[in-house]
Amino acid sequence: MKSLANKNILLGVTGGIAAYKSAEIVRHLKKSGASVRVVMTRSAEEFITPLTLQALSGNRVSTELLDAEAEAAMGHIELAKWADGILIAPATANTIARLSSGRGDDLLSTVTLAFDGPISVAPAMNQAMWRDERTQENLKKLIDQDFGICGPGSGEQACGDVGLGRMLEPIDILDMFSLSFNEGTLSGKKILITAGPTQEPIDPVRFITNRSSGKMGYSLVEAALESGANVTLISGPVNIEPPSNCNFVSIKTAEEMYEAVMHHISGMDVYIGTAAVSDYSPAKASDSKIKKDGSSSPMVLELKENQDILKSVSELEQRPYVVGFAAETNDLIKNAEKKLSNKNLDLIIANDVSNKDIGFDSDDNEVTLITEKEKHLIERQNKRKVSKKIIDFISGRINDQNN
Ligand code: C5P
Repeated sequence: MKSLANKNILLGVTGGIAAYKSAEIVRHLKKSGASVRVVMTRSAEEFITPLTLQALSGNRVSTELLDAEAEAAMGHIELAKWADGILIAPATANTIARLSSGRGDDLLSTVTLAFDGPISVAPAMNQAMWRDERTQENLKKLIDQDFGICGPGSGEQACGDVGLGRMLEPIDILDMFSLSFNEGTLSGKKILITAGPTQEPIDPVRFITNRSSGKMGYSLVEAALESGANVTLISGPVNIEPPSNCNFVSIKTAEEMYEAVMHHISGMDVYIGTAAVSDYSPAKASDSKIKKDGSSSPMVLELKENQDILKSVSELEQRPYVVGFAAETNDLIKNAEKKLSNKNLDLIIANDVSNKDIGFDSDDNEVTLITEKEKHLIERQNKRKVSKKIIDFISGRINDQNN
């Protein structure tokens, strides 16, 4: 739990029988070097006294939202600003329901609304309440909003029932919670990502392009930046603003993308080719607008094959970890495996573009990560989450390579 040292942790305690264990959580947090402030709900006070948690945390425990004296000392906004992370343990079914609907009717829920950082909850409730569809729906909402969920565990419950719903042991909760503060897994790594479509001019007003929106590539850029990487983005024309903290290179044609990639590739640790690079471009773009000739005979456009950028990168002598995408409409896995070996890639991300709900221009994606040794499905979810999982997978592999 090294990552909790010097962190300001706000512990929320809600009204479940497991509240007595929050004393131990405070003790562990202090031992690992964190500063701790505790916010209790009114019903939590029925299970453990604020005085106990005040003595252990060394700070006054906050309980009321509308308490002039407490607000003058450290009000809900100051508490939210002070905290680096919030852990709610135990988290009752009621608290989970209130958090999932964004309520702000007591101090704890208000602080979580005002807080912008990692929040984890450690559910604790009767097994039937845990299994209830409404609780599960509320939980799903929290997961979608990036809350960490620690547990619950299973076993005998205070009421005599046996099943899932027991709060995990404090040390296990803190092990999970501390993962929120891990240093970026790609700190110090350099990543080059291509994204978007290319445009291949036919004449000054027309071009060949494709349906790529750039969403997947740009969300990978965000995820890589969040993991601490130094990111260069080489992008075709899209309607998304590039993040200000990446090195952005704008291109239009496949040839320009090839040149830009070759220019920036040296020293990169990872190359991810998400761009939908046009395989062909007109053999010669006309200098002036092509006119109809009135003969009604078919117009023939001669195309030349473009360089395969991904393959060129994987053939470099000093090559980075090379990741490609396989956007396929049929035989997804077979075609992706073929590409993995033909292009000599470390990883290929297979993406079914025949399904309109995922892939091109959609906000969601479902992909299979394929390496020589393994296959790993990332089920349908928004591209931001898919990207985070892809980046985590890549950082796991390159960190393994370096060890
Ligand atoms: O062979 P195919 O074009 O389907 O392969 C897709 C993968 O190859 C993608 O990662 C894409 O970015 C990359 N690619 C490339 N240069 C090309 C064509 C595709 O880098 N000319």
